[in-house]
Amino acid sequence: MATVRMLLFLAIVYSAGIHVIVSLTDLNDAAVLQSLKGAWQNTPPSWDKSNDPCGLRWEGVTCNGSRVSALALSSTGLKGELTGDIGGLTELRSMDLSFNPGLTGSLSPRLGDLKKLNVMVLAGCSFSGNIPDELGNLAELTFLALNSNNLTGVIPHPLGKLSNLYWLDLAKNQLSGPIPISTSTSPGLDLLLKAKHFHLNENQLSGSIPPRLFSSEMTLIDLFLDGNRFTGSIPITLGFVHTLKVLRLDGNFLTGIVPSNLKNLTNVYELNLARNSLTGPLPDLSGMNLLNYVDLSNNSFDASEAPLWFTTIPTLTTLVIEFGSLQGTLPEKLFGLPELQQVKLKNNSFNDTLNMGDNISKQLQLVDLQYNQISRVTLGYEYKNELILFGNPVCNGSGAPNLTFCQPPHQATKS
Ligand SMILES: *[C@@H]1O[C@H](CO)[C@@H](O)[C@H](O)[C@H]1NC(C)=O
Ligand SMILES: *[C@@H]1O[C@H](CO)[C@@H](O)[C@H](O)[C@H]1NC(C)=O
Ligand SMILES: *[C@@H]1O[C@H](CO)[C@@H](O)[C@H](O)[C@H]1NC(C)=O
Ligand SMILES: *[C@@H]1O[C@H](CO)[C@@H](O)[C@H](O)[C@H]1NC(C)=O
Ligand SMILES: *[C@@H]1O[C@H](CO)[C@@H](O)[C@H](O)[C@H]1NC(C)=O
Ligand SMILES: *[C@@H]1O[C@H](CO)[C@@H](O)[C@H](O)[C@H]1NC(C)=O
Ligand SMILES: *[C@@H]1O[C@H](CO)[C@@H](O)[C@H](O)[C@H]1NC(C)=O
Ligand SMILES: *[C@@H]1O[C@H](CO)[C@@H](O)[C@H](O)[C@H]1NC(C)=O
Ligand SMILES: *[C@@H]1O[C@H](CO)[C@@H](O)[C@H](O)[C@H]1NC(C)=O
Repeated sequence: MATVRMLLFLAIVYSAGIHVIVSLTDLNDAAVLQSLKGAWQNTPPSWDKSNDPCGLRWEGVTCNGSRVSALALSSTGLKGELTGDIGGLTELRSMDLSFNPGLTGSLSPRLGDLKKLNVMVLAGCSFSGNIPDELGNLAELTFLALNSNNLTGVIPHPLGKLSNLYWLDLAKNQLSGPIPISTSTSPGLDLLLKAKHFHLNENQLSGSIPPRLFSSEMTLIDLFLDGNRFTGSIPITLGFVHTLKVLRLDGNFLTGIVPSNLKNLTNVYELNLARNSLTGPLPDLSGMNLLNYVDLSNNSFDASEAPLWFTTIPTLTTLVIEFGSLQGTLPEKLFGLPELQQVKLKNNSFNDTLNMGDNISKQLQLVDLQYNQISRVTLGYEYKNELILFGNPVCNGSGAPNLTFCQPPHQATKS
């Protein structure tokens, strides 16, 4: 009788699956996940249904055999702190907890124990405090995104040890201090020769943009330094990073002359230097024949006529130089650039006659020339989209206020 009962018991256990009694998950990894679950609210329902995250799978947890290899819990409404226990998941390759605004607290130095981590995405949460130096120990890291949190303090020098890093995004925090550069005793971001993306925009970074950050060995594609407090001039060395495609330095306190070798950056399609205090001649962008978007507004460049490159860059879609020092006649050929969509040149000193010519880009949507000194207009019949000449002498004559292009600009003049 006893043996029958025993067999019956075994049969039941067997049909329920062997992993119910023998947990597949590495005991330490299971304990770490239980600890994280204890620290978090809104974990997925499957986390309450088993004690074996790798066997009876927990949603968002990926295992390689018995070891936890990935956490993918982006936008799941998680709340709570990311405790140092996470450091126990020593086989973790990928961690994505992004866009959980309820995740708070500081980043634990024990994140630096995740030695096999390739990908760390903690963007769009509410982490605060400093970026721990220990992140520099993640030698395998290729992708680090800590953007859109409330991180403070400096960018740690040890991040310069992340020699495999491809993507560095620290944007939209409250980081301060300079960009760390290597010295004889400490690493710096200049050593990240595999990095394609430096997104450091919208922080409170200060000091000059270090000339030693850039070299011809760098392979950067995107450099976003906009919306910080950088001072000093644009370093000449920037012109050596020929791989650059998007360069945003707008919204800082940069001064001095734009280095003439900027135009060596012939792969750049977006250039934004607006809202600085740059002086000297308007930069010569001729030969940058992939440029789409150029914004040089709100600087202190020398007064000049429209430069030649206004009419020669075949790919130009958007030209923005508001509150500039441009004068003379606006060249008709500009409007014939085949890709041109928007021309925003308000508050300059263009004068004389505006002649848009007969060969106007089919894409052209907006020509904003308010507050210039234009006294006459020769309109082709071709252009039917928005033209704003409000604040020019041409709109001062009697009858002129009734002309469409003399109407005060409305909301359509969005920037
Ligand atoms: C799984 O683990 C083995 C042994 O550690 C490792 O060689 C392999 O690359 C891992 N596979 C994945 C997909 O991480
Ligand atoms: C945290 O950052 C968000 C934007 O990322 C901001 O709205 C919020 O005010 C910040 N909170 C604190 C306490 O600084
Ligand atoms: C870069 O620009 C400078 C100055 O405009 C020029 O003398 C130099 O030959 C250029 N270098 C390269 C590699 O294109
Ligand atoms: C330039 O500065 C003016 C005045 O501060 C501002 O209204 C305008 O939006 C700025 N334009 C650009 C493109 O930065
Ligand atoms: C009009 O502009 C296009 C593109 O710039 C150019 O290829 C073409 O020759 C121009 N046509 C005339 C009639 O000027
Ligand atoms: C620029 O435009 C404003 C209106 O937005 C005008 O009041 C001002 O006088 C203009 N400033 C310059 C420098 O042209
Ligand atoms: C336009 O401005 C230029 C430069 O300021 C000046 O030399 C020229 O006489 C002006 N032309 C007219 C028609 O006002
Ligand atoms: C337009 O005329 C008024 C009054 O005569 C004058 O004050 C103003 O400066 C003129 N505006 C322009 C853009 O010429
Ligand atoms: C402007 O147009 C209105 C109606 O369309 C007309 O009554 C008025 O006389 C015009 N004003 C001038 C100065 O031409």
